[in-house]
Amino acid sequence: MDLVKEIQRLKKEKNAVILAHYYQVPEIQDIADYVGDSLGLSQKAAETDADIIVFAGVHFMAETAKILNPSKTVVLPDLNAGCSLADSCPPEDFAAFTKKHPDHVVITYVNCSAEIKALSDIVCTSSNALKIVQSIPKETPIIFAPDRNLGQYIINETGRDMLLWDGSCIVHEAFSIDKLIELHKKYPEHKIIAHPESETHILDTATYIGSTSGMINFVREHANEKFIVATEAGILHKMQEEMPDTELIPAPAKEDNTCACSECHFMKMNTMQKLYDCLLNESPQIDVDEKIRERALLPIERMLELSK
Ligand code: 13P
Ligand code: SF4
Repeated sequence: MDLVKEIQRLKKEKNAVILAHYYQVPEIQDIADYVGDSLGLSQKAAETDADIIVFAGVHFMAETAKILNPSKTVVLPDLNAGCSLADSCPPEDFAAFTKKHPDHVVITYVNCSAEIKALSDIVCTSSNALKIVQSIPKETPIIFAPDRNLGQYIINETGRDMLLWDGSCIVHEAFSIDKLIELHKKYPEHKIIAHPESETHILDTATYIGSTSGMINFVREHANEKFIVATEAGILHKMQEEMPDTELIPAPAKEDNTCACSECHFMKMNTMQKLYDCLLNESPQIDVDEKIRERALLPIERMLELSK
């Protein structure tokens, strides 16, 4: 069976849209209607008139699409495609934490569950985090969760003192600073660009720090330069497709793996076969408890409003 043809046929027949993140395998990115970062994907999900949203990403992303589109069918090719960062913030513990600091505004990074979003005042992504934090009056104390690395980056950039939740992403914490320094010695002309989920010592080496879309835009604007790219290696597909002559090297991981880069095994759980199956069977679907959905919608809408 020609999976590409079959997926395209089903997509038309069922009025479905395929939204994919830059960390998906190349074949999925190539067949998607839209490939983007978390903010772009949320914006697309909010405005789509498709009946079915096939979310080629991880669970919290598909869940955000469902929160925005309760009447639509949202499917995720593999329901086990989770996120270590989202998992690092259990709702009960977070509820107890926020209760201890009732005067704090709660800003949560979109990489968290619907239950955590329901406990938040406003959501952000890596592309609008600085803007969202700066939108809060200076005298108002802030809780930022769940990513301590992104939180620390915002503190360093804005000078705002925030209470940080101690969560992190296994993929971005897998970069080796020693190997990165060695690599940069070997390729001194390459500029380091990094995602803010990376640890401070990695970010300190970077010429540019931003979301996946931000990193792609930066490379596009400096296509005659060379780069070491510190984020999940799936991003190289789009960068290289758009800028085939730009030299790109993935930042090295601590572990000696075969690709010498850092990959998100959650993102890579989705395959073309699973994408086809979920479109055909309209399963597995994402469901969110209505009370939680209503409460989680508000902070997402606030973010979308501030990001226009
Ligand atoms: P972006 O919003 O920058 O695409 O990040 C999503 C993500 O999960 C990074 O690990
Ligand atoms: Fe979560 Fe990290 Fe994978 Fe992004 S790269 S989905 S933050 S585990």
